Formats: sequence, C-alpha cells, structure tokens
Amino acid sequence: SAAEKGGFGSFMDKEIHDQPKAVADTLLGRLDERGRLQLDDLRIDEALLRSVDKIIVVACGTAAYAGHVAKYAIEHWCRIPVEVELAHEFRYRDPIVTPRTLVVAVSQSGETMDTLMAVRHAREQGAKVVAIVNTHGSTIPRESDAVLYTHAGPEIAVASTKAFLSQITAAYVLGLYLAQLRGNKFPDEIRQTLAELREMPAKIQIILDRAQKVRDVARSMADEKSVLFLGRHVGYPVAMEGALKLKELAYIHAEGFAAGELKHGPIALIDEGQAVIVVVPSPKGRDSLHSKVVSNIQEVRARGARTLVVAEDGDDDVVPFADEVFRIPASPTLLSPLLAVVPLQIFACELATAKGLDVDQPRNLAKSVTVE
Ligand code: G6P
Repeated sequence: SAAEKGGFGSFMDKEIHDQPKAVADTLLGRLDERGRLQLDDLRIDEALLRSVDKIIVVACGTAAYAGHVAKYAIEHWCRIPVEVELAHEFRYRDPIVTPRTLVVAVSQSGETMDTLMAVRHAREQGAKVVAIVNTHGSTIPRESDAVLYTHAGPEIAVASTKAFLSQITAAYVLGLYLAQLRGNKFPDEIRQTLAELREMPAKIQIILDRAQKVRDVARSMADEKSVLFLGRHVGYPVAMEGALKLKELAYIHAEGFAAGELKHGPIALIDEGQAVIVVVPSPKGRDSLHSKVVSNIQEVRARGARTLVVAEDGDDDVVPFADEVFRIPASPTLLSPLLAVVPLQIFACELATAKGLDVDQPRNLAKSVTVE
C-alpha cells in the first residue's frame, strides 16, 4: 500500500531513501565505551580469528558486489588475502579451504540456495563461516558458525539497494574488528576509520537531497539501448553494481568495466552517442588513480561517447570531459562506494519508472532464489 511505501512511488524509491538509516543502524551498538569494536553477536573463537590466513567471500548478485568492495578494504586493513567468489561457482571448482580459512557468506535474505550450499561445502572442508545477513531467523545464519546481522530493515523491492550499503558496512566492521584483534592497525587508526564511517549516513542524505539532477538525466535516457559503466579500484565493483541495477530494473543492456581494461577491448564498443557512466575516484586518494580515470573519460569522449560522471564535490578536472556530472560529497577512497553507488541506483530506478516499468517487481526475477 501507499503507507507501506512511506509516501514514495515504489518500495525501491523508499528503500533508496532508507539508506542513511540502514548504514547508521548497521554500525549501531558495535562500539564499547572506549571506542573499540565490540561484536557481541559474533560468537566465534578469537584465537581462531587471529589465525585466519585467507578469507573467501561467497555470495550472489548484489551481495557479491558488496564482497568485491570489501576485499579492497579488508586486505588493506588486515593484510589477509581475500577472494570473492560467486557462491554457485565456489562449490564446483574444488576450492582450497582449510581450517584457517574464514568464509564470509553475504546474503540479504539468508535463503539463497546457491549461497547456502557454498556455506555447507565450506564447513564440510573445516572452514569457519561468518554470515553477513539481513533477515533474522533465516537459514544461512542458522547453518553458519557466526553471524553479523545487517540492520537494513525489511527489503521488499526485488533489486537490492539498502541491503547492499549495509552489507558493505557490516563487512567493513568485520574487517576493522579483525584488524583490531590481530593488531594490524593502531587503535587510533581504527577509531578514525569508524568515525569516518559514522559520517557516511549524513553524506548519503546529501546525495538524496540533490537527486533531481540524476532523475532529470535518467528520464531523458528512456530510449537508450546500451549503457557502459567504468570504474577503478573500489569504483570497479560500484560500476558493476550500477550496470546490474540498470539491467534488472530497466531491461537495458549494461556492462561494468574496470576503467584500465578499456584499452584492452571494451573501447571498441564506443561510437557516436554511446552512453558511458564513469565512477571517478577521489582526487585526494591514491596517487594517479584519479588522473588515470579522467584520461579514460577523455578517451571515450574523443570517440563520441556521451559521458555521465560521478565525481566528488570540488573535482573540477572532470568538467571539461563530462556531459553531465553527478556530485557526491568527499570521502576516504575505501568508504566512497557507500556514496558513489547511490546516484547509480537512483538513475536505474528513475529510468525504469520513465519507461513505465514496475521497479519493485522486475520481470523474471525473484527476491530470493531458493533453488540451485
Ligand atoms: C536474487 C535477487 C538479487 C540478489 C540475489 C542475492 O537474485 O534478485 O537482488 O542480489 O538474489 O540475494 P541474497 O538474498 O542472497 O542477498
């Protein structure tokens, strides 16, 4: 009903607007009075967590992209190798899993059969499994060794939005907790990152407040046949998630590429008028990442592309090469996916709405896929 949608036109639109709260609630209650992470719900032996020598994230769909984002952060903070694998591929390739492997199963519903089977397989090999799940009482947490709940609240729209942001948040909390436990990072550094994480809900709200620009551009693109998404570093999984949202909601062919891969193939796709959405890293981030992506925008534009650019406030370098700029607040690189994906969600939702499609119930898709 209209009341359940909180005055929004669709559950999807409502859930996009729930995101500041979803992130804030996922952080809530996880710090003790000294500002240290306290994961009371994570009942897993600390000595074991200290001895972990590899992490494998298993998930499907949007949850798998949350895993791809988390890999960058967890490897950086903990110096533990992280693999991310689609749950349905994991089980069938004789993966190397030992008692020192920590498997992290990410799932909104907690019922995805592919992910559940991966959890069972990992435990049979002796690995410990931590579930990052949104739905209390669901099967995956019940069959895992430990669970870290995301507190996004019920997600009704088939295509995932607020669950994605809260999965990244929970995976970051887990990564910082491991770093704290293993002494990889000074307590001050961890506190600093947590403080930055706590600023993210307000920054997401700023993007929501400025969404009209994204909406107007999306409405003008209802006849688009194909949209390409480019990103680098953590912007790469964001680009893939942006493309997935557009496929799911608007039935438009969309692909996410690593910006550095452009020259190795995908640039052949660019011709006059091809829409390319580029996720630009922070100009204050890692050396040369920003300028390399700006060069990529230049390269596709020189070949006729129409460029839509997601860039930080104050990043003027992109302006000469962008047909449209969607602005996001400045943030540390590793936290930027929590912001950069939001305009892409709004873009897909609005474009699909402009095409007259049901954004909550896209054709052929189910909210949770309980068959293999
Ligand atoms: C389905 C949904 C996707 C979701 C995926 C994983 O395919 O349509 O939106 O990302 O399942 O779902 P889960 O509940 O495991 O996160």
